[in-house]
Amino acid sequence: MMRQLITILGSTGSIGSSSLDVISQHPERFEIFALSANLQYQTLANQCLKFNPCYAVVMIPEVANQLKQLLQSKGSKTQVLCGPEDLNHVAQEPAVDTVIAGIVGAVGLRATLAAVESGKKVLLANKESLVMAGNLFKQAVARSGCTLLPIDSEHNGIFQCLPDNFKIGCNETVIKLTLPASGGPFLGWKEKQMRDVTPKEACAHPNWQMGRKISVDSATLMNKGLEVIEASLLFEMPADSIEVVIHPQSIVHAFVHFADGSTLAHMGVPDMRVPIAHALAWPRRIKSGVETLDFSVVSNLEFSPPDLENFPCLQLAYDALLSGGDATTILNAANETAVDAFLNSRIKFTQISEIVCDTLTNSVFSPLKTIEEVEASDARARLISSKLIKATAKQ
Ligand SMILES: NC(=O)c1ccc[n+]([C@@H]2O[C@H](COP(=O)([O-])OP(=O)(O)OC[C@H]3O[C@@H](n4cnc5c(N)ncnc54)[C@H](OP(=O)(O)O)[C@@H]3O)[C@@H](O)[C@H]2O)c1
Repeated sequence: MMRQLITILGSTGSIGSSSLDVISQHPERFEIFALSANLQYQTLANQCLKFNPCYAVVMIPEVANQLKQLLQSKGSKTQVLCGPEDLNHVAQEPAVDTVIAGIVGAVGLRATLAAVESGKKVLLANKESLVMAGNLFKQAVARSGCTLLPIDSEHNGIFQCLPDNFKIGCNETVIKLTLPASGGPFLGWKEKQMRDVTPKEACAHPNWQMGRKISVDSATLMNKGLEVIEASLLFEMPADSIEVVIHPQSIVHAFVHFADGSTLAHMGVPDMRVPIAHALAWPRRIKSGVETLDFSVVSNLEFSPPDLENFPCLQLAYDALLSGGDATTILNAANETAVDAFLNSRIKFTQISEIVCDTLTNSVFSPLKTIEEVEASDARARLISSKLIKATAKQ
């Protein structure tokens, strides 16, 4: 069997380590070409010693030097690279079959696009790159013929439920998609109760172990909003055909509704190794290390509508999707800036949605024709939201 040669962008994160866990269970199938991180060089060094990649990429020269010294002291042959150009290089290297896009946020855009443009199989976790670049990202996929497989659990679940003859963009059989949301740690809370929550409380997700940024997004419901935009782009479904339901157990990951009244659901234990294993082996199936559901333990699957009044981020995302132009780029940039400010205790949790809303209100939406224009729109929105954060912090 030919082994798939894999680059993982963001290997030290939650998605990266779940991916390596699955990969380590199938050494006959998968081999690592490159791993990457931002600051966590010790974790990256341990991963290199275990998986022996050709390259390890970090973003800052000082971190690269520390990683080099550590790897040399352990006799590792992995070569250390540094910076965005080198990250793009390991994403588009001709020998690589598969790239796992597991960097968090807009900083992952260029390397993810490099993988897409060179026609790889791309396992997409970095939803922010799709949300910010929108149709330009989709056009790059169409141009290169790359195989884009979503590993966000909801989108992977939808992908698994879609019929083989589903044609993106000219579909009459699928009439609606439903994305379940756990509701996060503050499910059922009112705005007033959430004003003074701490970053630690916001990151304590009841069902999923995730990085800090996506954990806060889950707590505000912005994550579900980003996922609505992601689903609309991936499956070319309009905003009003994508519904969100609160499902605190996180057992159902997606519903696909058909014209004849049938609904298919994707279910599984909430563990990212399931969608990662599915996408790594697709169209085959391999073990992920996760047990199938035990229905003697799982009971009471609950579903209810989301509370848009106390969790306004979800509606902001729907509105941005409907507004078109660069509204979703602005939404994403403002959200990243505001979440970072919250995690660094510069604004309150409930101010995240206010910053995003005010940034959108203070922006004029325009269509984006190039990736440079996407980056310029992202930078403008970050400037506006940073000013709003400064003004908020002074109050
Ligand atoms: N975690 C989940 O269960 C889950 C589920 C669905 C979708 N996703 C999506 O997957 C992506 C990753 O999420 P995560 O939870 O795995 O995040 P995470 O745990 O915070 O990991 C992020 C990864 O990106 C790297 N990184 C951070 N800043 C960077 C920069 N400036 N340049 C290059 N690399 C950088 C980090 O390196 P360091 O470790 O060195 O900081 C780390 O390897 C996000 O887009 C998220 O929305 C995650």
